[in-house]
Amino acid sequence: MTGRVIDGVRLAATIREDVAARAAALAKKGIKPGLAVILVGQDPASQVYVRNKVAACEKAGLHSVLEQYPADMTQDALLSRIETLNVDPHIHGILVQLPLPKHIDSHRVIETIAAQKDVDGFHISNAGLLMTGTPLFRPCTPYGVMKMLESEQVVLRGAVAVIVGASNIVGKPMAMLLQAAGATVTICNSKTRDLAWHTRHADIVVVATGKPGMVTGDMIKPGAIVIDVGINRSADGKLCGDVDYASVKEVAGAITPVPGGVGPMTIAMLLVNTLEAAERAQLPSTSR
Ligand code: GUN
Repeated sequence: MTGRVIDGVRLAATIREDVAARAAALAKKGIKPGLAVILVGQDPASQVYVRNKVAACEKAGLHSVLEQYPADMTQDALLSRIETLNVDPHIHGILVQLPLPKHIDSHRVIETIAAQKDVDGFHISNAGLLMTGTPLFRPCTPYGVMKMLESEQVVLRGAVAVIVGASNIVGKPMAMLLQAAGATVTICNSKTRDLAWHTRHADIVVVATGKPGMVTGDMIKPGAIVIDVGINRSADGKLCGDVDYASVKEVAGAITPVPGGVGPMTIAMLLVNTLEAAERAQLPSTSR
């Protein structure tokens, strides 16, 4: 058996087209959705990610500003910049790229972003809304994964889902979304005993560990859906995921490639969240 390849590039393009059409409708009312992206420091991978996010905004007709600051920016200066953006009427979404330099408390930073502009969905009030079943913003990567599962018509109700990786950015919100859709969810982490036992029982495996090739074909149930959130650079300079693609593809029912899988979906869902933040900002405050 060889698994289907879930094409994130194609699905993301469809979503971006829809965002562009909705942005054009807003433009007729004189509103241009605006995203501010803040990068502190010189991390090369983060620089690529933020540039891709800003470029995608421009292509879809959204306004975006990229603010880059030196690694020694003070926490106070960053918080004060966020407070200014919180009240800027042209900015509907604020994204601070993570990780931040060690001297900056990322929790403080995230909590300073106005919840209604938190297009990453990382603010505790957004995490709480997600957990209690009334999400305002769904975190972009897990949201993109849900769209991929939907496009593959994967039945989630009653499915067994195993998530490898328990981060606030991916693993935990992924669990909330899958659980809300009716799946039975296990979150594994780096200390999980006999990880393969868990993954082999899963209909859906989502891997977000940052460890290349961590999940191999012998750990997968034949026909399972395997979603690889990892983006790593191998010794020969090529991009690779957290899943051993060659061996898993032989067993899985469907698999996401790296590159061209989850990555483009994360950006597409950021555009959706920014557009919807702008749409909501036009509504009377009682109906938001
Ligand atoms: N770093 C890695 N992924 C993300 C993300 O989705 N949002 C932000 N802000 N930083 C990240």
